[in-house]
Amino acid sequence: MRLIPQPESISMFYGYSLSDEINEKLISGEITDDEGYELYISPDKITATAGSEKGLYYAEVTFRQIKNLYAKIPCMKIKDRPRFSHRGFMIDCARHIFSVDELKSMISTAADFKFNKFHWHLSDDQGFRMELENMPELTEKGSVRKCDTFRNCHSDKEYGGYYTKKDIAEITDFCKERYIDIIPELDMPGHLSAFLHVYPEFTCSGEPVEIKTKQGIFSDILCIGNENAFDALCRVIDEMCEMFPYGKFHIGGDEVPKHNWKTCPKCRKMMAIQGLSDVNELQCYFTDKMADYLKNKGKTCIVWNDSLKGGNLSDRLTVQYWNGSKKKTVSAAEKGQNIILSPFMPYYADYPYSMHSLKSVYAFEPSSFGGLSEEGIKSIEGIESPVWTEFITDIQRLSYLCFPRWFAVAETAWAAPENKNYRSFCDVTKKLVKVYKNKGINSAPEADWNPSVFSRLKNTLSFFLPL
Ligand code: ACM
Ligand code: ZN
Repeated sequence: MRLIPQPESISMFYGYSLSDEINEKLISGEITDDEGYELYISPDKITATAGSEKGLYYAEVTFRQIKNLYAKIPCMKIKDRPRFSHRGFMIDCARHIFSVDELKSMISTAADFKFNKFHWHLSDDQGFRMELENMPELTEKGSVRKCDTFRNCHSDKEYGGYYTKKDIAEITDFCKERYIDIIPELDMPGHLSAFLHVYPEFTCSGEPVEIKTKQGIFSDILCIGNENAFDALCRVIDEMCEMFPYGKFHIGGDEVPKHNWKTCPKCRKMMAIQGLSDVNELQCYFTDKMADYLKNKGKTCIVWNDSLKGGNLSDRLTVQYWNGSKKKTVSAAEKGQNIILSPFMPYYADYPYSMHSLKSVYAFEPSSFGGLSEEGIKSIEGIESPVWTEFITDIQRLSYLCFPRWFAVAETAWAAPENKNYRSFCDVTKKLVKVYKNKGINSAPEADWNPSVFSRLKNTLSFFLPL
């Protein structure tokens, strides 16, 4: 019996079940893993046992997949629990926005593979996408860009949109039913042009800021010497915390070009007051201060690994590695700081299969990251695959890029490494791609999963140099 993700252990028995539903659900203190469960399928009765409602939910998810794959349900006993507590997928809704129904289709499919964290990237240089009651100008002005000059799409028309409170509540409820926590991201102090377009007084120069119409890294960033700028972000956070009642909050911290800080009198004054020797330390000071603010609201912060550059980041933050030197992330993990692994290569799902083949996604082994020691490995909270959407404008392309690569991420996140097997994974994936096609999910066809060397070159080139 092969499922995705493959359960911890399966014992097969003779015969088939006459029942096609779980007949009995039991909560037992003997199952100590919060997400673990047992599923006992006998000829006349199917019983799920878990230590919590969440575990029972995962028993149901497993049972549904068995029914999707097998016309007759074989008798068996499954004992299962996850490898990692953080099994994440990230969708960037700032560069391109997806409807509530489209997001639900992505979330629902991810949930079927036991993902439990939806990292929702809701603001960036190209748009601010959350309705806020206390700061309506953020969506009135901050959610619309003048045109699109992304590599693969050009338009003279305004592009805009945002999620209303009602939309966000609908997504939150949808996730809750599937035991998925939402980790909202407010990327700062860079990738903040949409916010700064509305409040240009919070940059170092005070000059007007445009909402960006193309991809890239932009020097319009927050002035760290301005206390009012910090307070304004806290007001955004206050309202976000009401909408997203979860323990984790992502404060970004990636790709911050800091040259404005070097010459800004306010930033220089702040550096002098705090005794900071360079602008990387200034970012750490800002990040720690924001994390303290969120701690008082009961939240643990997650930051991209770029934030470690200043070297003095509080170890209360979880570091999400995506790119660049692994050294600082590894040394943080060795000291017990929690880390989440989202290596650009191969986990960035916005890149074509010619660059990040299904096989390479499947092969990524978290414990091999950067030569971590046995102790350091214990700091891996989990893994996450992001999909950035500068070049993705519709749900068909979005789901094509994510599925079945996210099936592979899901297996690494949940299954014990010794239970993984790429060939049998592919056999089941072929069937599941068909199952999900019938549910309206456009996964990549088998022919595209692992392109030949020639197609790899051709498709990679055309990704970077579209006609
Ligand atoms: C990132 O991809 N800039 C986190
Ligand atoms: Zn400044």
